[in-house]
Amino acid sequence: KALKLIEVKSEIGAGTRGASLGVDAIKIAALDFGSRFFKKHKSVEVPNENHLLLESSGSPFAKRISGILTMVERVAEQVTETLVKDEFPIVLAGDHSTAAGTITGIKKAYPKSKLGVIWIDAHADLHSPYTTPSGNMHGMPLAMVLDEDNTDRKVNKLDQETINYWFQLKNVGNIAPKIGYSDLVLISARDMEKPEEYLIKKHKVKNFTTADLRKRGVERIVIDAMLYLEHCDLIYVSFDVDSLDPTASRGTGTPVTQGLTEREAGNLVSRLMTQEKVCCLEIVEVNPTLDRENQMAEHAFEILIKATNAFRNE
Ligand code: ARG
Ligand code: MN
Ligand code: MN
Ligand code: MN
Repeated sequence: KALKLIEVKSEIGAGTRGASLGVDAIKIAALDFGSRFFKKHKSVEVPNENHLLLESSGSPFAKRISGILTMVERVAEQVTETLVKDEFPIVLAGDHSTAAGTITGIKKAYPKSKLGVIWIDAHADLHSPYTTPSGNMHGMPLAMVLDEDNTDRKVNKLDQETINYWFQLKNVGNIAPKIGYSDLVLISARDMEKPEEYLIKKHKVKNFTTADLRKRGVERIVIDAMLYLEHCDLIYVSFDVDSLDPTASRGTGTPVTQGLTEREAGNLVSRLMTQEKVCCLEIVEVNPTLDRENQMAEHAFEILIKATNAFRNE
């Protein structure tokens, strides 16, 4: 099966500027490694007027939400088109909010399939505008696809325009919810706020911690994650580079200690790529403006290469 790279140079869901440069930083890393990867694989760029979208309308609890909706719709369309052509989408994106678009795209291509999600991230990204501590929408893509408001733990009072946009985001593609809590596996989630912890406890969300992974090994974690998602027909793997430990690099907006090593992450993602149910991979949140010597993009590229090699060996 051919791979198709989908480039999404959006950063409007992040609180720190610069993640829109992440895709190009990964391409520079490829050049530095003397790799022909970006020559070899077909790619498409999702249109993104970053300067305009940065000024799109929103509220303190859902910053730039109108632009987020636009980007989510665009990503969904491209992912659907790729899957319908029987190509394997690898989404290289800026901030993590567009993952809601990727999930929408998969659901639109395979409406009858049960979709599972493996979310490799320091964060759970389960906030809604009602609970967000920052208003940054890269902390919300899983709530979008779970159709979750979490009003039990409401802390923010929303205006009507935000409520309307949030409704549209949750219902994008006219499917809501797109996944359930039992279709979700978190890996290395370690920096959650109270409202997110509440949801994780309430719905018994599966989370394999960094310590679990280190103790039991990547192989075992992958087997357990696949068993947990056995009822799913298809699986989407979302890799936020802040799942890595900050000692590996500082080139991401929201780094958190106690993360994965580059080697652990590479083995994990490539092992997942050998699984037949895995239908899409996404890599997000590389921000070269916060980095030193493009380290984060280099790590991301190495993980990407390892992942695609594993995919082709299958
Ligand atoms: N939970 C924090 C927030 O909502 C951080 C989210 C970070 N998300 C990410 N995709 N890097 O603001
Ligand atoms: Mn994330
Ligand atoms: Mn994160
Ligand atoms: Mn490296």
